[in-house]
Amino acid sequence: MAKKIILDCDPGHDDAIALMLAYANPEIDLVAVTTVAGNQTLTKVTNNARSIATLIGMKDVPIAAGCDRPLVNEINVADEIHGDSGIDGTELPKPEVPLQDIHAVDLIIETIMNSPEKTITLVPTGALTNIAMAARREPKIVDRVKEVVLMGGGYLESNYSAAAEFNIFVDPEAARVVFNAGWKLTMVGLDVTHKALATPDVLEEMEKINTVPSIKVKELMTFFQKMYKESQDFDYPPVHDPVTVAYLIDPSVMEVVKAPIDIELHGELTRGMTVVDFNHIVASDCVTYVGVSLDKQKFWDLVYDALRKIG
Ligand code: BDR
Ligand code: CA
Repeated sequence: MAKKIILDCDPGHDDAIALMLAYANPEIDLVAVTTVAGNQTLTKVTNNARSIATLIGMKDVPIAAGCDRPLVNEINVADEIHGDSGIDGTELPKPEVPLQDIHAVDLIIETIMNSPEKTITLVPTGALTNIAMAARREPKIVDRVKEVVLMGGGYLESNYSAAAEFNIFVDPEAARVVFNAGWKLTMVGLDVTHKALATPDVLEEMEKINTVPSIKVKELMTFFQKMYKESQDFDYPPVHDPVTVAYLIDPSVMEVVKAPIDIELHGELTRGMTVVDFNHIVASDCVTYVGVSLDKQKFWDLVYDALRKIG
């Protein structure tokens, strides 16, 4: 049976690919897309989600907008990576797919409460504001969800500060709530996603697929490459977010280790750091897992398959 997921995202070049993969792969039943401020303002990322939905003909999945700022921090966008629109580098269609008249936090809660227990997986690929709000507003969802598989953090790698990854850095308080909620949670962090690089062979394959979405994704990746080179000196850009979905489709895409994880809130230099305690991996009450390696070929093959299907 296909896995039912809610994708909570901030598109975002790599969020867009996560959305396409989730929509196209038959192992995934995408039941809702919710948006959160992060890579750009809520208005922009929500428009981007609707434009991507329009591009791929996704009319049957509700899209709802969520929180327009982090719980405590001021809003902090990543235009140095994603550009002014949040998804610069190609022309996307006007957003024709409608926005639901419900707040994302309510849609998340309703979807989980109205579905059989342990059938919905949450896949956050942005700041964790909506997910933390949902867990606080309706604590029953914590036992009802199947699991949470999120993109964020890193145990050796960071990108936004010396110690923190962007999604966690943007809203560390929300991350603290989500990582400590008690649900099964898998962190797909930079240690893994920095291996999912859009290298020239990847772009060539996208060109070969030669559909409107695959060419647009290639253009997005070309822009992403330029921004990653300028801001972080990467030769090829890491395509973080779809690793979450790929792992749910085929768990052999990523090796995971069970380990306690918590979020640093007060460190003078380390706020937003994901502290992974590999010394206590046998703790019996531990429900958190961390990705440690990636099968790149399997990952990209899933992305190519999705692009072929969408076209
Ligand atoms: C994460 O930050 C965002 O810019 C990307 O979309 C990804 O979710 C990587 O640190
Ligand atoms: Ca993202």
